[in-house]
Amino acid sequence: MRLYLDCADRAELAPLLDTGLFSGVTTNPLILQRGGVRLAEVPALVHWLLERGTAEVFVQTTAADADRIVAEGRELRALSDRVVVKIPATTAGLTAARRLADQGVPVLVTAVYHALQALTALAAGARWIAPYVGRMTEQGRDGHEQVAQMQRILTGSSTGVLAASLRSAEDVRRLALLGVEAVTVGAPVARALLTEPLTEAAVADFDRAVAQLRD
Ligand code: G3P
Repeated sequence: MRLYLDCADRAELAPLLDTGLFSGVTTNPLILQRGGVRLAEVPALVHWLLERGTAEVFVQTTAADADRIVAEGRELRALSDRVVVKIPATTAGLTAARRLADQGVPVLVTAVYHALQALTALAAGARWIAPYVGRMTEQGRDGHEQVAQMQRILTGSSTGVLAASLRSAEDVRRLALLGVEAVTVGAPVARALLTEPLTEAAVADFDRAVAQLRD
């Protein structure tokens, strides 16, 4: 399973990207807003990420109709061949995703809230779908169950689940056991993934022993 960072805040991203453990960065207008990044500043953020060796950068279209989504997607892809275009799973978005996929542009269909949308994203030729697991659960659906169904629907296809809207490291553990291809997590969950209190305690024991052995 691949790990991605769902973040646009350079101060949060830098130390996590420096671990080399994250395959890329995902963004959307909410993530940009949380990170204080204006739309006009997105190319600069993409270049900053690529210069740090980020393998994949996901950027979301903002247009409403299919023609303009396609045009925007092509502009985003022109920034780099490491840019993946994110498009919400609306009818216009799926229509645009199909056209962009036919043009060889990798697409992630996002804001997915139901297993049926795995079917439509598959028909659109999407490389990824991003189910909003936390939001599904908070809005009365069982997010993990929906993802399990998406996994079964996508078995054998070239469309993978990149699960998003995750609230804890436990969400990541459960999704990994479901076999999802990737997850994207905010900086707090990313840090939680890297921190195990019992490991920290064991290292403190090692350090005490080393100090004593050096005396
Ligand atoms: O990438 C998905 C993210 O923007 C939505 O997650 O945390 O707002 O539910 P969240």
